[in-house]
Amino acid sequence: MVWSPQSWRAKPILQLPAYPDAEALAAVENTLRTRPPLVFAGEARDLMSSLGQVAEGKAFLLQGGDCAESFAEFLPDNIRDTLRVILQMAVVLTFAAGVPVVKVGRIAGQFAKPRSDDFETRGGVSLPSYRGDNINGIEFTSEARIPDPQRLMEGYAQSAATLNLLRAFTNGGYADLHNVHRWMLGFIAGSPAGEQFRSLAQRVSESLDFMRACGITPETVPQLRTTNFYTSHEALFLGYEQALTRVDSTSGDWYDTSAHMLWIGDRTRQVDGAHVEFCRGIKNPIGLKCGPSMTNDDLARLCETINPENKPGRITLICRFGADRVGENLPRLIRTIEREGAKVVWSCDPMHGNTVKSGTGYKTRPFDRIQKEVKTFFDVHRAEGTHAGGVHFEMTGQNVTECLGGAQAIGEEDLEKRYHTHCDPRLNASQSIELAFLMAESIRAERMKDAGYAA
Ligand code: PEP
Ligand code: CO
Repeated sequence: MVWSPQSWRAKPILQLPAYPDAEALAAVENTLRTRPPLVFAGEARDLMSSLGQVAEGKAFLLQGGDCAESFAEFLPDNIRDTLRVILQMAVVLTFAAGVPVVKVGRIAGQFAKPRSDDFETRGGVSLPSYRGDNINGIEFTSEARIPDPQRLMEGYAQSAATLNLLRAFTNGGYADLHNVHRWMLGFIAGSPAGEQFRSLAQRVSESLDFMRACGITPETVPQLRTTNFYTSHEALFLGYEQALTRVDSTSGDWYDTSAHMLWIGDRTRQVDGAHVEFCRGIKNPIGLKCGPSMTNDDLARLCETINPENKPGRITLICRFGADRVGENLPRLIRTIEREGAKVVWSCDPMHGNTVKSGTGYKTRPFDRIQKEVKTFFDVHRAEGTHAGGVHFEMTGQNVTECLGGAQAIGEEDLEKRYHTHCDPRLNASQSIELAFLMAESIRAERMKDAGYAA
């Protein structure tokens, strides 16, 4: 079948909100079609080529941000702090892996959420589920839960302003490597986990001193003052994605200009379904969530459908099995990909397979299980001889109490203190940086071993 930006409309679709007024929705989509693109095709191509490096084992992917952005948490400090944490994680990982780290935020458009149930029931009352701030309201009232197309306009405006601030931060000197390093030293000084990571941080300091002594400073090498930062979100509400899909005048190809990278969720990756149909035609890099229900055949067909030319960087497989299931599922998928000769980025999402309910009724994720899934992911790739290419986290720069454990030892009784997420529990700033250090220690140990150094 010939692809077009609307060809998904003829396919079976899951997770579609029930808008009461189809004409009002169409009017908003028509308005969005006239609005400026948020990203350029050339930027999406740059990301694709960086991800191509990841697929070939020459770079590492760090993707992270909110589970769901919200209108209520749309504050400049939140954007700045999330970016700051991602940049710190990236420096630690760059040092450990000895390769460039490709940074992608779940930000500037990550609003729409797939839900396991169409209805939510509280105290005997059932209402349509909350589906993200660009669709309906989180308040448990029948009015808030009615999908409102005007929310798409607000999501677009928030994405544009967020992206503008991110561009200013990453190009205006704030992301200077020496700044990021200073923040890292601040973390080491202030965290209960700090002592454990002091020697790694010390080595980074020494490397920067050495570079400075050689004349490599932000003044002489402007690249040290800026960084590339890309945006991504789940391509879930396709009416919005279609409205922002435009022909690139340079290549004549279609790009979804709502973000640099889009991903397909674990619930909407049916090979004959609408979401795969839409994503196969846009030229942006595409993520594909892989949970335990992904069969080997599904995976092979999805890669063939989304990446018929087998371009490295086009597909990122974001594995989210859960700490106890990654060992049994990942090897079969790796072998399928190797057998097909498919070029992919392997990334680990240790969040979505490790969600549990606390005794106090909160959805949470234990830090230990998150860490364990990442570790097993790396171990399996090492055993299979393939490249563990990246990680995908739900995290925030704020000091929330949503995931259990970490050096701060967040306990069940702490969850209620600062549980702010609009959807799934996120790692807080300290837990995120701690996890980066823990990963860095093992990545570096392996690298030193391979290179014949004592670790
Ligand atoms: C998500 O990334 O927020 C999400 C819903 O993930 P998955 O599709 O893997 O469940
Ligand atoms: Co989530």
